[in-house]
Amino acid sequence: MIIGVFDSGRGGKTVADTIIEMNPGIHVIYVSDAKHCPYGEKDDETLYGLVSRIVRGFVNANLDMVVIACNTATTRCIKRLREDFPDMPFIGTEPAVKLAAGSDAKKILVLATPGTIHSERLETLVKDNQKKGQTIDLLACPGLADTIEFNLDEDNSKIEQKLGELLKDTDKDYDAIVLGCTHYSLIKPMIQKFFPTAKLIDGNEGIARRVGAIAEEIRKREA
Ligand code: DGL
Repeated sequence: MIIGVFDSGRGGKTVADTIIEMNPGIHVIYVSDAKHCPYGEKDDETLYGLVSRIVRGFVNANLDMVVIACNTATTRCIKRLREDFPDMPFIGTEPAVKLAAGSDAKKILVLATPGTIHSERLETLVKDNQKKGQTIDLLACPGLADTIEFNLDEDNSKIEQKLGELLKDTDKDYDAIVLGCTHYSLIKPMIQKFFPTAKLIDGNEGIARRVGAIAEEIRKREA
C-alpha cells in the first residue's frame, strides 16, 4: 500500500513520520511544497490550484490514499478535493479541538494559520465540541509557519522572536494548546516555554490510526 502525504513544507513530515511509525506495512510518498509556503496566507483559489496539482500527481501515480498533512489545506480545500477526485480516499488534518475539549482542560487556546483560524470548519469544530464552562480561544499566527519552514535548526532565535511577538498579549495560564498547524509540532519545546503548565495537543496519532483503518478496508475490498 502506497499513500501520498503532502504539506506546504516540513510540517506535514511530523504526520508522515507518525503514520510510518504506527503502520509498518504502509509506504509513504511525501511532497513538501516549500516553494509555496505559507499556504495559510493564500486566497482560496490560489490554494486550491496548488493543492489540486499535487493531488492530481498522486492520482496519476495510482496511489491508494491521500493524507492532507496540513490544517489549512484541509479546512479550506478537502470538500472540493473530494468532489473533484471522487475515487480517491482522503484523510485530512484538522485542529485537534475535539481532543482538547474532551480532556479536563478548562481554558484552551488554538494556534493556527490565518487561513485555518478564519475557516468555517474551525468555527464548526469549536461549536460542536466546546463543553459548558470551557473557554476556547483562537489565535492566528501570521508568519509563523514560514519562519519555522525557513529557519528551523539554522536560526531558532528567529522563531523564538516571532513567537514572542505573536504571544506577547496572550494569557500564559492555558490548560491546553491545540497545535492547529503541522509546522507547530516541530517547535513544541519553544511553545511549551511560553505556556509552562499547558498540555500541547496535535492530532497526529489520530490521523495515523485512521490511515491504518482505511488501509485495512482497502485491503479487504481488494482481497
Ligand atoms: N503546515 C500547514 C498547516 O498545517 C500550513 C502552514 C502554511 O504553509 O501556512 O496549516
